[in-house]
Amino acid sequence: MCGIVGILGREKAAPLVVEALKRLEYRGYDSAGVATLEDGHITRLRAEGKLRNLANKLDTHPLKGTIAIGHTRWATHGKPTANNAHPHATDKLAVVHNGIIENFRELRKMMEGEGIVFKTETDTEVVAQLVTRELATTNDPRTAVARALPQLRGAFALAFIFEGEPDLMIGARQGAPLAVGHGDGEMYLGSDALALAPFTDTITYLDDGDWVVLTRTDHDFRDAKNNKVARKTQKTSAGAFLVDKGNHRHFMAKEIHEQPEVVGRTLAHYLDMAKAEVALPFTLPFDWKDLTRLTISACGTAYLAGYIAKYWFERYARLPVEIDVASEFRYREAPLPEKGLALFISQSGETADTLAALRYAKENGQKILSVVNVTTSTIARESDIIAPILSGPEIGVASTKAFTCQLAVLACLAISAGVARGTLGRDEAARLVNELILTPGRISEALHREPAIRDIAQRLTKATDVLYLGRGTAYPLALEGALKLKEISYIHAEAYAAGELKHGPIALIDEKMPVIVIAPHDPLYEKTISNMQEVAARGGNIILIAEDEAAEQSGLAGIAHVAMPAMATDFAAIPYAVPVQLLAYWTAFLLGKDVDQPRNLAKSVTVE
Ligand code: AGP
Repeated sequence: MCGIVGILGREKAAPLVVEALKRLEYRGYDSAGVATLEDGHITRLRAEGKLRNLANKLDTHPLKGTIAIGHTRWATHGKPTANNAHPHATDKLAVVHNGIIENFRELRKMMEGEGIVFKTETDTEVVAQLVTRELATTNDPRTAVARALPQLRGAFALAFIFEGEPDLMIGARQGAPLAVGHGDGEMYLGSDALALAPFTDTITYLDDGDWVVLTRTDHDFRDAKNNKVARKTQKTSAGAFLVDKGNHRHFMAKEIHEQPEVVGRTLAHYLDMAKAEVALPFTLPFDWKDLTRLTISACGTAYLAGYIAKYWFERYARLPVEIDVASEFRYREAPLPEKGLALFISQSGETADTLAALRYAKENGQKILSVVNVTTSTIARESDIIAPILSGPEIGVASTKAFTCQLAVLACLAISAGVARGTLGRDEAARLVNELILTPGRISEALHREPAIRDIAQRLTKATDVLYLGRGTAYPLALEGALKLKEISYIHAEAYAAGELKHGPIALIDEKMPVIVIAPHDPLYEKTISNMQEVAARGGNIILIAEDEAAEQSGLAGIAHVAMPAMATDFAAIPYAVPVQLLAYWTAFLLGKDVDQPRNLAKSVTVE
């Protein structure tokens, strides 16, 4: 996912844009660039790799224009080279783009047929040439953009500046988010509020299909039909969260260690701790009692949070759950119950597949409940009701605190559903709530095991394949552990329901491949331990994540063991997430990987 920043300012804009782009580094990128008007003429600087390469170029080629657009690129079309870096320009304009232009080939072919010569292999250059082509007949940038936009298909956010127009910037949004920032005699454009936090906390998000014409003192919002529209201006709290690493090496480490605090804050938002009751901070636009089935869809780690919640909704609310990854759900044409409820989980609230799945469910008469971190996101705005997870901005690409905050909210929803459906009595509900109230403390205790986890991670650094095993909610947690390890250490890892071992994967067992067994002391514990014995009997290389005495009880002297605190296990998946996160983190760190921005990954995948 790319980052966009635009400034219509009063001082040199290029250095400010580059500085603001640093707040979008978390999105993942492989090149960057900035364009401004020097004496009215389009001037660009672009660089491959990290932003510091662009900043170095700016040091040797200072730009003094007070209008600028900048971009961090995550390559979708064309290699991550300086030539393919944005902004893309013609002699009439410069443009930056986040997203994908799906029909760029036919547009490029049409224009090449008219003799237009392309200089790059990107879809974005097609946008630059298309608007320039329209300018040839209208000579007015507003009209040119208005004519070009309907010709584009795909998901995109765009920002333009024009030759000879020092007080004009145009933004457009179709799928990928874009926000206008309001300053004092200045105006800004950005992919999200975080990028604009250094300049303003007054933000107006464009809706899908909108485009906007900006000068330093005015804004003219238009919808897809070019009608003048008013969009809500709001104060954003993005700047309120200190987006820095604190005393940690990486954002991911900081965010893992923030979990006791943020999970505690989230639970406080959903529970009446004094009464040991769930107290949802919103009114649900449906009745849990009326539901015959709950549909859940999400991607990646968010999907795995939903998978864990499936066990909780079915166990405590006796509510059947159908769950699928959004990239499958959006095309499956799944039949959905009359007046059913569909629940979507998304940290960013901008994941294209999840948004498409949401729209499918909505078109099929479902009420939409979304569990999100970014409450101003597209998924949030298109839901009937949102349950914010309040984890604060999650900068590390690998999701950690958002995952445990999602689980905390989902646990509260499951208890609330059980009480509403009469499947949870007051005492049982209170017991579950009290277990949740203890969860931040257990997360803290799990964090104290970090030195032992770091030592075990040393072993994983030598592995080429790792197998995770678990039963019950420890099975989707095993899937999450495998995802975490894969995505930041690049070591192949997979997870299996421990009971499935004998149906094939046990053939993999040898003394080399680490087998990570997640075994909270729940009703399935004994069975998981006996699966572990099967692995041991074949000389397996076991790492056990379980309560203190589990290793001794298993009679397997000397196995590697992450000793977890004793706890009631209804929501054990939340504290047990900590060791799987830390194992991945330390393995990646010891391998010298880019922990916060792993290769090929982006924090939010706003394209298919
Ligand atoms: C998780 O560590 C990954 N970064 C990825 O799987 C992520 O969870 C997924 O892309 C969903 O993102 P979302 O929660 O913003 O929708």
